[in-house]
Amino acid sequence: MLTLVAAALILNHSSDDLRLFNLRAKVVRHYGFLIPRSGTPMYYEIVKRLLGLSIQEIAESRKLNGKQALQVASKYLATMSTEWFKGKAPTIAYDDPLCRWAYIFAHVAVHANCLEAVIRKCESASAKFSKRIRRDELSILTFGGGPGTELMALAKHFAFLKDQNKGKDYNQVDVRLTIVDRISAWSENITLVQEEIDRVYKNGSVARHKWPARFSVFAHVLDMTDIKAFGNLPSLFKKKDLFIFNYMISEIFNLEHSIPTMRAISKSCADASYFLFVDRKDQDTKAKINFLIKKIRLKIVVEGESANYDTVDGDEQKSLLGPISRHLGREPRHTWNSCWRLAIKS
Ligand SMILES: C[S@@+](CC[C@H](N)C(=O)[O-])C[C@H]1O[C@@H](n2cnc3c(N)ncnc32)[C@H](O)[C@@H]1O
Repeated sequence: MLTLVAAALILNHSSDDLRLFNLRAKVVRHYGFLIPRSGTPMYYEIVKRLLGLSIQEIAESRKLNGKQALQVASKYLATMSTEWFKGKAPTIAYDDPLCRWAYIFAHVAVHANCLEAVIRKCESASAKFSKRIRRDELSILTFGGGPGTELMALAKHFAFLKDQNKGKDYNQVDVRLTIVDRISAWSENITLVQEEIDRVYKNGSVARHKWPARFSVFAHVLDMTDIKAFGNLPSLFKKKDLFIFNYMISEIFNLEHSIPTMRAISKSCADASYFLFVDRKDQDTKAKINFLIKKIRLKIVVEGESANYDTVDGDEQKSLLGPISRHLGREPRHTWNSCWRLAIKS
């Protein structure tokens, strides 16, 4: 056990010291399977840029100075968790740009990494799902995807797949990503996330045709509990390889109101479309996801839950948000407790 702990410590050490470097090489040879996956770090970096790009304008539009704006954001962070866990429909003011700003700071990187980790687990558990997600062309819809979290997770997943294929042929994936959320104002964020992913993929001068994936992103406003509004977008849900619900079901407390929409979605989508639910792993949330899956008659392909407090991959640096954390008086999250269900329309 101690050897494993020492191995983990050495692997996480960033010193250039030669002795440590040699030791590290030895550990890599013996315990390579334990190494946290490293790839193209992007989560905290993108989050940092998103936050920096918008705070001044948001503060000015609210007639606040920087300090006051951060105080409001900090209050939102404090109330958000209480709202999520109070056992009733949460009142989270996503309409307010400072609330969205606070959400991005605290939760987006960790939710993106969690989803990416779940996709990897589902890939290793289901060869059919893995084959599907490695197609050259993919059509994915994410519900409650307003912040752009799932876009980031997919961008990193494909960067990882390309890295894995080093030296061999890799076909760039063409992803049509439809993002649906009840809050229209998130759409600005999605555009920024997409620009940031382009910047990371470009990495100075990498030509577009060599990027791991090309994303065409479409954002739509829809409340999942409003079947009448669904009638405005009936074609949206056809021909999708994958529907993602990432930390979304836990926000819906009148779940029975979303059953008509979910039924309509599952009726209109093609057979063998996948549905991936990732969320908190408390009993209530798991029961809600199971209820939904049963109600719309999906078949579970893979299910699981994280160990207590899985952490963000070692290549991602939470410290990038250090200066903002100091002003806000709190750290962004870097652990998660999640459950997941990958189901299929059969
Ligand atoms: C906890 S956030 C998760 C966001 C993102 N998927 C992530 O993991 O970072 C929940 C999201 O679901 C959206 N949402 C909540 N209730 C919804 C509903 N009834 N219909 C559509 N979107 C909803 C919210 O606007 C918010 O963007």
